[in-house]
Amino acid sequence: MQASPHVRNLKNNYTLMKRTEFLNTLGIGLAAACTGCLASCGKGGEATPGGGAVIPPPVPPAGVNFTLDLNTELKTVGESKTNSGVIVVRLAASNVPASFTAVQVACTHEGTSIAFNTNQGNFVCPNHGSVFNSTGAVTTGPATTNLKKYNIAVSGTTLTVTG
Ligand code: FES
Repeated sequence: MQASPHVRNLKNNYTLMKRTEFLNTLGIGLAAACTGCLASCGKGGEATPGGGAVIPPPVPPAGVNFTLDLNTELKTVGESKTNSGVIVVRLAASNVPASFTAVQVACTHEGTSIAFNTNQGNFVCPNHGSVFNSTGAVTTGPATTNLKKYNIAVSGTTLTVTG
């Protein structure tokens, strides 16, 4: 036989009271416990809302060294290419280093791959909306750490990325 709604409410109130009393015995008020959780939620490497698994911020790739052939790759402004955890974008037409940018592709918040927004000239993370300028600096959170920027050299039509 199922309990009446009144009896279920009494049971729920009793359970809630016991949890509150338990927190009080630890010297932690319910409001303080929730405030602490909310303050830590949403930053990379910390607890997620609801107490889920901790997602560490990604470690940017190191020892990167690859080349791209500009005869066949990154031919148009706004075009991007991802290699070795680095996204390389052509920002201007001429084949000089200043016409390109190369940054880690993993968002510094929780590691989702960012994408280049040609119209805005910036990188956007589709997960929680962080925005980084073309050199990888954070302009909109929740990310708080800049993307790692890599070195670019151009020799003829060979672009080399290192870092
Ligand atoms: S993973 Fe959260 S903003 Fe990119």
